[in-house]
Amino acid sequence: MSQNLRTALIIGASRGLGLGLVTAYLAQGWRVIATRRGGATALEALSATAGDRLVIETLDVTDEAGIAALRERLAGETLDLLFVSAGVSTCKSATSADVAAEAFALEMATNALAPLRIIETFASLVAPSGVIVALSSALGSVSGNTSGGTEVYRASKAALNSLLRSFSARNRDRSLVALHPGWVRTDMGGSNAAIDIEQSVAGMVEVIAGRAGKPGCVYLDYRGKPIDW
Ligand SMILES: NC(=O)c1ccc[n+]([C@@H]2O[C@H](COP(=O)([O-])OP(=O)(O)OC[C@H]3O[C@@H](n4cnc5c(N)ncnc54)[C@H](OP(=O)(O)O)[C@@H]3O)[C@@H](O)[C@H]2O)c1
Repeated sequence: MSQNLRTALIIGASRGLGLGLVTAYLAQGWRVIATRRGGATALEALSATAGDRLVIETLDVTDEAGIAALRERLAGETLDLLFVSAGVSTCKSATSADVAAEAFALEMATNALAPLRIIETFASLVAPSGVIVALSSALGSVSGNTSGGTEVYRASKAALNSLLRSFSARNRDRSLVALHPGWVRTDMGGSNAAIDIEQSVAGMVEVIAGRAGKPGCVYLDYRGKPIDW
C-alpha cells in the first residue's frame, strides 16, 4: 500500500510544530515516520486515522547512539522530506556573562549539533528530488541581531545556520532550507505569539514543495520570504 506514497521523516513530533507537520503531511496523503523522545499521546492518537501511513520511532536528538540505531532501522527507506523540528529555548534572558556553561552546552547541542548530526546521518536516504529542512529562527540571523535578547537561543540558531551552509558546501546537489516558522503559539512560542500552528505549518508545507529538486541552502520564513543570514 505504501509503495508509491511520498515519505517524510519528521524529527521531534511529540507536540508543537513537529506534531502539526505530521498532521498536515498525513492529511496530504504522505507516509510519515515521526520521532518522539518520550510520551506523545497526541502523536499516537493520529495512528487511529493514519493507520500504517504513520510510523512512530523514539529518539532523543542528543543521543548519538540513538541516531545511529534509527538510521539502521530505516536503512531501506527513501525519503522525500527530512525535517528536523526538535529544539529548546531554556536559557531565556541569560547572557553570555551569566549563563551556566552546562545550559549553554545543552542548548547548542540540541539546536545546532543534533540537527546536523541527523542530517549528516540521514541525507543518504533522501531522494535526489527530496528536501532537507531544519527549523531555524529569524533570531538566528546574525545581520538581523540589532536588539540582542534571548542571546543563547540566537547563538544556537546562528550556529545551526552556519553548520547547514557548511553541509551545503560539501553537498551542493542537495536542497536545504533553514526555515523560520514565524512566531507561533506553541509551548515555546507562548500564548501571545502571532500565528497558530496550522497557519505556520500550511505556509511551511508550501515553501518546502517549492524547494523540491532545487539545490542550495536557503534561509526562508514560512511565507517563503528570504531572511538575511
Ligand atoms: N514556536 C515558535 O514561535 C518558534 C519560532 C522560531 C523557531 N522555532 C523552532 O521550531 C522548533 C519547534 O518548536 P515548537 O514551537 O514546536 O516548540 P515546542 O512546542 O516547545 O516543542 C519542542 C519539541 O522539540 C522536542 N525536543 C526538544 N528537545 C528534544 C530532544 N533532545 N530530543 C528529541 N526531541 C526534543 C520536544 O519533545 P518533548 O515533548 O519530548 O519535550 C517537542 O516535541 C524548534 O526548533 C524551535 O526552536 C519555534
